[in-house]
Amino acid sequence: MRITVQVFLATGLLSFGLIGTAVAADGEALLAENCASCHSVEGSKQLTRIDAQRKTPEGWTMTLFRMDVVQGVKLSNADRRTLVKHLSDTRGMAPSETADFRYILERTPNVVENTTNENISGMCTRCHSLARAGLQARTEEEWRLLAHQHLGQWPTTEYQAGGRDREWFKLAVELAPTLAREYPLETAAWTEWAAREKKSMAGSWRIAGSVPNRGVFTGHMLVDETGTDTYSVETMIDYADGAKEIGTGGAIVYTGFEWRARINVEGVSMSQVFAASEDGDAMAGRMFRTTADELGFHVTAVRETDGISEVLAVSPTHIRAGSTAEVTVSGTGLSGDVSLGEGVVIQTVLSATPTRIKVKATATEDTPVGPRAVKVGTAENEVSITVYEKADSIRIEPPFAIARVGGGSTPRVQATFEAVAYANGADGQPGTDDDIRIGAMPAVWSVKAFDEVAQAMEDAKFAGVMDARSGIFTPAMAGPNQARPFSTNNAGNLAVVAIVNDDGQTLTGEGQLVVTVQRWNDPPIR
Ligand code: HEC
Ligand code: HEC
Repeated sequence: MRITVQVFLATGLLSFGLIGTAVAADGEALLAENCASCHSVEGSKQLTRIDAQRKTPEGWTMTLFRMDVVQGVKLSNADRRTLVKHLSDTRGMAPSETADFRYILERTPNVVENTTNENISGMCTRCHSLARAGLQARTEEEWRLLAHQHLGQWPTTEYQAGGRDREWFKLAVELAPTLAREYPLETAAWTEWAAREKKSMAGSWRIAGSVPNRGVFTGHMLVDETGTDTYSVETMIDYADGAKEIGTGGAIVYTGFEWRARINVEGVSMSQVFAASEDGDAMAGRMFRTTADELGFHVTAVRETDGISEVLAVSPTHIRAGSTAEVTVSGTGLSGDVSLGEGVVIQTVLSATPTRIKVKATATEDTPVGPRAVKVGTAENEVSITVYEKADSIRIEPPFAIARVGGGSTPRVQATFEAVAYANGADGQPGTDDDIRIGAMPAVWSVKAFDEVAQAMEDAKFAGVMDARSGIFTPAMAGPNQARPFSTNNAGNLAVVAIVNDDGQTLTGEGQLVVTVQRWNDPPIR
């Protein structure tokens, strides 16, 4: 298994550091050369299996990986890159078809999936995400063959622990019509998208985001064409705390909108997984450390062109009723009056450029609490500032997280938390639906045993260390630890505690963190 994992990391999408070189060979010719021997029927030009399914670049990478490991289909790195590009351009997913499942492509940690169809989630989410299925389009026959492939390759599915409560194979075959209805091969969205002229991503972009426990950043991203759908990228970012970071790297765009970049930011390799909007003038997604994808943040980007005027960020994101604060609104093409919504009075404009306006604003004493849209002239973009009276409770985000011990060949997986303040809302009760989200607040962080078993095993002492200021938990080393009872490993079950001081009042929030063992197999789509 170990060898397989290493091959996975060394090939496929993860190695597109060489993008820009040798994506020359013709995709269909490569399919004919490398795949048709097993995937064609005499007298037909169609490729069996390959022409009856569509998927993301990561999905195609995984299929090619299986063809390599199980069927012995050896491809050079250059040919594999060409094939992943060609297959996702010609047999890919339309933007709207991926919208519900971006988190898995973005490698967002600790997501709890929204499962709408009980039958599918009960059958298909025991070993991997629902997104792995949801990011594919197939004929009914292909969904049926996939059930065969699963049981053929993993016969233990039917009798392993957690799997023997049902006749999995029989039910999986019966599920094919449902899957084909939910995720069909032929859709109007794909027909329309495949035929559409796509915009080049080259140009200057205004970008913004927020790093947990650090705050808002804004910046520019300069993109230049280096080949067909490949680009060089330069980023310049300013943090609200005054720090500046510069990055350079490259990007490739699959299917006309799937932006994948690798950027060296001040010596740290960062990956970007963005989706471009259908008009090609905006992008959104996640940027994360290439070798530690749990450490990342959401980014939005808008083209810096005449005629585009949008608000991208506001800092701070909340203001107390009865107080005055300096508020910075960032975006592109900004001109005109700043509005921070009802009850927030703009006292003076401290500085103004088309990308950044700084104002002095007062939230009046009796203004209703809650979020209001941030606007400049006619520009807005779902950015809001929240007026609050006082914080009533703290919720930890994410409320439940996983970290993994590591070291040696498999790095540890950290966990990052934020303390988010809420006001009680009309019912005066914390933890109810009408609570008003105020925003993330600085906190002092710690961990303690989650329950009696964790207490007896001294999990808080052995499982790792919580950084009191950043909210980042670093798990301990993998392997047996003789200092522990029964010389067990350093896994643990912890309560995460955040203490927030809001205007003299102390509030505490608690979450849960399970520190578990390594993930030995970490494919592009989990
Ligand atoms: C040596 C024979 C062989 C070659 C060559 C081969 N395949 Fe396959 N392929 C198979 C077999 C057998 C299966 C069914 C088992 C499976 O899905 O893993 C399969 C299944 C597939 C599927 C369906 C997977 C699914 O999830 O339903 C796709 C798509 C595919 N192959 C693509 C390719 C591509 C692209 C190539 C060329 C780069 C290729 N294959 C080359 C034997 C081959
Ligand atoms: C026993 C564990 C298990 C269960 C249950 C399971 N899968 Fe999978 N599935 C896997 C593994 C492992 C792979 C990776 C295959 C590979 O090596 O490429 C996979 C791959 C896939 C793929 C990608 C295949 C490709 O090549 O494109 C899809 C789609 C998928 N599963 C859908 C489903 C659906 C739908 C169900 C429910 C009917 C399901 N899975 C249930 C283990 C499971």
